[in-house]
Amino acid sequence: MTRMIRRLSGGIAILTVFAAIGGLTVFLPGSLLIHEAIAAADPAPVHQPDPAWVAPDQEKAKKRAQEIVPFVEAVMEECELCRQMRLREMGLGIKDSASAYYLLDSPIIKKSEDLYGPVRFKHNKHAAQLKDCALCHHYRPLDENAKETTRCSACHQEAFRPDHPERIGLKAAFHQQCAGCHQEMKQGPTDCLGCHNKNVPDHKELVMLSGKPQPTEVTRECLRCHKAAGEDMLKTAHWLWKGPSPHTLNRSKHVEHGKATSAVNNF
Ligand code: HEC
Ligand code: HEC
Ligand code: HEC
Ligand code: HEC
Ligand code: HEC
Repeated sequence: MTRMIRRLSGGIAILTVFAAIGGLTVFLPGSLLIHEAIAAADPAPVHQPDPAWVAPDQEKAKKRAQEIVPFVEAVMEECELCRQMRLREMGLGIKDSASAYYLLDSPIIKKSEDLYGPVRFKHNKHAAQLKDCALCHHYRPLDENAKETTRCSACHQEAFRPDHPERIGLKAAFHQQCAGCHQEMKQGPTDCLGCHNKNVPDHKELVMLSGKPQPTEVTRECLRCHKAAGEDMLKTAHWLWKGPSPHTLNRSKHVEHGKATSAVNNF
């Protein structure tokens, strides 16, 4: 619903801009009202992975995401600044990046939790904007033949390794580095759903209904798994037919006497 309102208000905002650019004196009081209502109801802007963006070579990225690389024991010792200078002198640039885009979906993490879908990471967009490979690729293996830009998962794997207590796990490594920088730079998402899509399973496999089910049977089937959603529903104005309606424009009121009965609410 809020997304719908946002899209609607976006359209109206564009209309307002057009009206301004065209020098037309079109007065749109409605748009102001709607903007105010949205600001009051929904102050925090929430990032969402851009659904319109199509990942290049998704099949390759998917395959790569499933690889587990051997653990790197020994890391070259060098100070942060030394590493940065050395990579600069080597002339490491976007041309040395293996792929413009990565899907982060490591089986190392999925072994213990799988609450969200894979995370899309625009590698070259980040590299071009940040202009410093060492910001993320902060260490290299001691092995001279290894690449300077080894995968994070070569050094960060399980949440805790008794043999390497100084290394944080892969999930924490991503969270600290990705969200940490976004927070510091005040750019890029820091809210969960800005990077993650929920891992919603295919409901064709989950919902078990046969023949021509009654509406109540469908509801009962959904409630088998979505018990909390059912309980939330029972607290809404749609069920109770009472309570405040602060966000309904020109219809703000408070109704105390509901008419919730099973005769009306036969969901
Ligand atoms: C800047 C991006 C970013 C943000 C913001 C972020 N995450 Fe993550 N998260 C990642 C990445 C990258 C991974 C590792 C994905 C992989 O390799 O499987 C991950 C992995 C996870 C995992 C383990 C994998 C899974 O599917 O269950 C959980 C749980 C998780 N994040 C929860 C959260 C929660 C909760 C928040 C908000 C408090 C959050 N994340 C915010 C990037 C992010
Ligand atoms: C914002 C952080 C960030 C920056 C900046 C960055 N990278 Fe990366 N890079 C990553 C992440 C994350 C991966 C995926 C790691 C993984 O899958 O474990 C990666 C992967 C790579 C890989 C593939 C490694 C492999 O073995 O498959 C190469 C090559 C690479 N980066 C090169 C570069 C170069 C060159 C630069 C500088 C021009 C650069 N990167 C800048 C975060 C970054
Ligand atoms: C060659 C090994 C190696 C690779 C590759 C590597 N790391 Fe690390 N990382 C380490 C070691 C060792 C530490 C602990 C020592 C330290 O904190 O300085 C560490 C610590 C960290 C920390 C916590 C300390 C800090 O910097 O604040 C984060 C976050 C992190 N790594 C993220 C990443 C990410 C993300 C990648 C991939 C882009 C990556 N690392 C690649 C070896 C590596
Ligand atoms: C050193 C800083 C830095 C690190 C580390 C970093 N980011 Fe970002 N990120 C940025 C900046 C700056 C932007 C804003 C770029 C823009 O939108 O033009 C951004 C934007 C994003 C966006 C939204 C814009 C888009 O086009 O997708 C996502 C999603 C994202 N980052 C994911 C990640 C993930 C996942 C990681 C870790 C693997 C990560 N970032 C690590 C700096 C960083
Ligand atoms: C066997 C269990 C099961 C049944 C039955 C089921 N679902 Fe789900 N559903 C899930 C799981 C697991 C998720 C993903 C986790 C989550 O978002 O809660 C989900 C997610 C969803 C979502 C996305 C929620 C979000 O936050 O993005 C919707 C919408 C949904 N279900 C609707 C339905 C409806 C409608 C029915 C009945 C026709 C139904 N489900 C029946 C298990 C089930």
